[in-house]
Amino acid sequence: MTITTAITTVTTTATKTGPALDTVHLLPQTRQLRALHTIIRDRHADPERFVTTSGRIIRRLIETALDLLPYEPFDVQTPVGRTYHGLRPATGICGVSVLRAGESMEHELRVMSPGVRIGKILIQRDKVTKLPRLYYSALPADIDRRSVLLLDPMLATGGTALAAVEVLLGHGVAVDDIVFVTLLSAPEGIDAVHARHPNLRIVTSAIEERLNENAYMIPGIGDFGDRYFGTD
Ligand code: URA
Repeated sequence: MTITTAITTVTTTATKTGPALDTVHLLPQTRQLRALHTIIRDRHADPERFVTTSGRIIRRLIETALDLLPYEPFDVQTPVGRTYHGLRPATGICGVSVLRAGESMEHELRVMSPGVRIGKILIQRDKVTKLPRLYYSALPADIDRRSVLLLDPMLATGGTALAAVEVLLGHGVAVDDIVFVTLLSAPEGIDAVHARHPNLRIVTSAIEERLNENAYMIPGIGDFGDRYFGTD
């Protein structure tokens, strides 16, 4: 697997298949980021601290994801009468949260991109077939003309991610216009997603060792949704 960080490209042997270059953007593993992870991975973290600290990591993830979107030249006049040759987003942006845990990422996106459209997708594993099943989606009508940040803090087996991507493709969104934004990812999930969509970009703050027999990531964080929403 080839992993691109903001400062370097790292090649690991953590996964079986090799996704296309520049598809996995791992946040720089700074000491501060590791300290934030230490807080939220602690089984004794108090719920308030879990939420605020997750938010700080999510903000970094979304900043990185926004950097991957297309920009176009845009000039402005500065207060001292000069032209600043700047940039502005070349497309509209849409966040799509995968319910329920993905909703934890909406606030930070709204802060950074006021007025951003937010779609929702609810996918759950069917009790009989064990396959991911779409229960609900609400997406903007013009989503096929937008850059899409697909928001789900946990990339475990990749089943839900793949099902969510299929929903977006069904609405005319191109894979190249999607960035999957996730806090923790398992090598198995990254491989599963890239086996079907080698060009799908993933922004993540940690790549875990592997999944356990219950499809939880290890060392992991437990059930993110339960911890974030206080339902554990
Ligand atoms: N979902 C979670 O919340 N945690 C995991 O480890 C895997 C999936």
